[in-house]
Amino acid sequence: MKQSHELLKLMHLMLPHKLKLFLAIISSILNKLCDIVPEILIGISIDVVVNQQHSLVARFCGITNPLEQLYIVGALTALLWIFESVFEYFYLILWRSLAQDVQHTLRLSTYQHIQKLDMAYFENKTIGGLLSILNDDINQLELFLSEGPNALLQLVVNVIVMGGIFFYISPHIAFLTLIPIPFVVWIAYYFQNKLAVLYEVVRERVAGLGSHIASRLVGITTIKSYTTEEYELAALNRESLAYKRDNHRAGRVNAAYIPLVRMGILFGFIGSLVVGGMLTLQGTLAISMYSALVFLTQRFLWPFTTLTTITDMYERAMASVRRIFGILEQEQTITDGGMNDFKVRNLKGSIRFDQVSFGYNQDTQIFNDLSLTIPAHQTVAFVGSTGSGKSTIIKLLLRLYDSTNGSILLDDLDIKSVPLKKVRQAIALVSQEVYLVNGTVRENIAYGTTDASPDAIINAAQMAQAHEFIVDLPNGYDTAIGENGKNLSGGQRQRLAIARAILKNPPIFIFDEATSALDNETEAAVQQSIASLSGKHTMIIIAHRLSTVRHADIIFVMENGTIVESGNHEELLARNGAYATLWNIQTGELV
Ligand SMILES: Nc1ncnc2c1ncn2[C@@H]1O[C@H](COP(=O)(O)OP(=O)(O)O)[C@@H](O)[C@H]1O
Ligand SMILES: [Mg+2]
Repeated sequence: MKQSHELLKLMHLMLPHKLKLFLAIISSILNKLCDIVPEILIGISIDVVVNQQHSLVARFCGITNPLEQLYIVGALTALLWIFESVFEYFYLILWRSLAQDVQHTLRLSTYQHIQKLDMAYFENKTIGGLLSILNDDINQLELFLSEGPNALLQLVVNVIVMGGIFFYISPHIAFLTLIPIPFVVWIAYYFQNKLAVLYEVVRERVAGLGSHIASRLVGITTIKSYTTEEYELAALNRESLAYKRDNHRAGRVNAAYIPLVRMGILFGFIGSLVVGGMLTLQGTLAISMYSALVFLTQRFLWPFTTLTTITDMYERAMASVRRIFGILEQEQTITDGGMNDFKVRNLKGSIRFDQVSFGYNQDTQIFNDLSLTIPAHQTVAFVGSTGSGKSTIIKLLLRLYDSTNGSILLDDLDIKSVPLKKVRQAIALVSQEVYLVNGTVRENIAYGTTDASPDAIINAAQMAQAHEFIVDLPNGYDTAIGENGKNLSGGQRQRLAIARAILKNPPIFIFDEATSALDNETEAAVQQSIASLSGKHTMIIIAHRLSTVRHADIIFVMENGTIVESGNHEELLARNGAYATLWNIQTGELV
């Protein structure tokens, strides 16, 4: 039930291409008809030779000369064969093109949907696993989409036409040949269910292999440095063998099924051969009819063997379709607020957390009634030990996760009431993990600000202390930096990310340990640039080195998801609490 549902969803994707679909269906049907009719013409030509001026052709066309009758039948056959090829050409092209259309739509809509899904969705997913769906599973549909509908249509046309002719010529024999059909259909049904389960397992293995390989390729440096190549090869060997075994099992079931169907068909064929022969011997059936029947039986029953191919293709495809729709039907819980007239450029940039509670999962609570206020155009800092919840505050503000209780306000507006896109446009984040796209330096700085002028890009790079190293690169701003900037050092990548944020120029800047990989001198220079942004923007700086945040207007000291102290540097030192202790440790005044 569920499966036909998925098949319908898949077929539904063909609907936007109605004309192509219509032409494809027509081509398939006409091709099959042009394939069937010459078989009937064989019977007719035998009839011409045997009955001569009393033949069917003579009766219908009024041409009594047998030779002329043969010419007509011959010409007709030749014509039909030509048409058969023409329609084959068209159905091949059209179904294939439709398959590509559906795959293209699915590829884009699945990717689009993945991009929208909550961060929480990705927590228990692997990149390789998702990649296998976007790539393997979607490509896997090619065969079924381009050949399945045609095969099924032709089978149906065949059954209807051949069956019709059969019952017209000889109901007895037609009935005989039908006997194996329920058996064949039952086998098909039985094996289809078996194959469904097996292909499901195979697809999971493919995903497992994909995620295994992807995660190892990312860690290739570690693999090399710890010389774990053999160990990793053995691990892949196990995964690959499991895939091979499961794939083989599906192959075996499929292989067992084909001979069974053929045996059933053979039974029908022999039946019509013998009974038809007996009827002819008795004189109840004309010889021409008998010879046509023998052909017909074969032509009627043989196509049922394609049921095996069809079910196999179908089950393979459905295993993939279920995985694809598994993503497409995954609901987004972080949804857009309705305030469409909200303007990012009118935003002043004050931020308030009002009794916010949050946990990444039910078991562990990170924040319990956390409240804090960041006035517009101020520079605030969050300090505290790792794991105290600093980055989580940022993720909540960006709505990468939603708080379970309480609200977060931007200029006194609940961020849940504002379109998601606008909340994120209001903020430039330079996070701990820098992500660079595989392109040039220029493209990376302008990422998300595609209308930036070359001067603006250089200016942003200068403020981020990146300009100097960029001009030293082989092609300056047009140097390709490799996947995730692997041709650059950690500090260079951080500076590109900072330049990108500066170019974006939103009301709110967030630097989450953004200068951790820089040397002291460069960090001080970057800090100065960042300081020049303050006053006009709201700045949130998270840093380990307290020297980098001592000039902040407010410093929040965090511990275990709570703010234990807040105030400016002098106030906090005067309190002689957690901040003062940290400060003394870092400046070496306390042992
Ligand atoms: N995606 C996540 N899923 C589950 N727990 C997480 C996730 N991200 C962070 N945490 C946990 O939340 C706590 C706060 O993390 P984080 O905000 O990153 O700390 P900080 O930035 O202060 O070092 C930590 O205990 C961390 O283990
Ligand atoms: Mg952090």
